[in-house]
Amino acid sequence: MSDVSNSGPNLDPNLVTADEGQPSEHAGHFVEIKNLRKSFHDLVVLDQLNLDIAKGEILSLIGSSGSGKSTLLRCIAQLEVPDAGVIAIDGEVQGLIEKKGKLYQAPKKVIRAQQAEVGMVFQNFNLFPHMTALENIIEAPIHVRGLSPDEAKRVAMEWLSIVGLADNKDSYPIELSGGMQQRVAIARAFAMDPKLILFDEPTSALDPELVGEVLDVIEKSTKSGVTAVIATHEIAFAHEISTHIAFLSGGAITEYGTPEQVIDNPQEERTREFLRRITARNDSASKKN
Ligand SMILES: Nc1ncnc2c1ncn2[C@@H]1O[C@H](COP(=O)(O)OP(=O)(O)OP(=O)(O)O)[C@@H](O)[C@H]1O
Ligand SMILES: [Mg+2]
Repeated sequence: MSDVSNSGPNLDPNLVTADEGQPSEHAGHFVEIKNLRKSFHDLVVLDQLNLDIAKGEILSLIGSSGSGKSTLLRCIAQLEVPDAGVIAIDGEVQGLIEKKGKLYQAPKKVIRAQQAEVGMVFQNFNLFPHMTALENIIEAPIHVRGLSPDEAKRVAMEWLSIVGLADNKDSYPIELSGGMQQRVAIARAFAMDPKLILFDEPTSALDPELVGEVLDVIEKSTKSGVTAVIATHEIAFAHEISTHIAFLSGGAITEYGTPEQVIDNPQEERTREFLRRITARNDSASKKN
């Protein structure tokens, strides 16, 4: 956290410019990421990364394997501590508190409260194996949010219905397919009523025939008006459901815009090259299936 105290507590929205051509509706800046840096030993993964996300935005994060998509999501969810930079959600700087104009690491209690506002869906579902689908979903609403068991069950059943698994509420993860487990994990994340939801390649651990049902559930659940960031290699899906696309390369967001801008008409050669490669890969995969 060595540089953090130098980054200053003021998040001047004018300084946060992921893309100078951003449309004016982006003035909301629900999520502001400014000069984010994260390294592992000598490897600098994120460097001077700036990104704004408006409320209700569905942002797909694309980029090569190893470009730092998971690292960025993990920094937003405070599963990693950045080396420098600031992440603010709904006006609240994450993981840091200000004292006399300097930023210091926040107490654990503050961090846990902030983490409760950010949902994350992982590649490998991460369900508790010894709990049923319903128990997996009600755990955090009861213990973190303080909901009564009845209220938590009501919310959980609503989300299980949305993801099409109301009849599987008493199933254990091992009794469910990978696609069903991921749908439970999505219901679990949404049942916390998060301000922001992060998906880290939610379909990449699935057999190809199960990908569609999970993408359908993500599309349906993000229609609730939530703000979402989705790291994905599913370019067609990203195009369909996202309001915006960010391309991560060399540790920073190097192209940002609508799906029509970034996917259909990329301006940067790096983006074009990435899209050519991924399209060729997807084409050859679909020929095999
Ligand atoms: N905990 C860690 N310790 C050391 N290196 C790490 C750690 N986490 C990530 N890295 C490295 O940081 C780089 C970025 O990793 P990251 O997982 O964020 O990439 P990604 O864009 O999500 O890739 P993928 O598309 O394969 O999921 C990689 O080189 C990775 O090996
Ligand atoms: Mg990743």
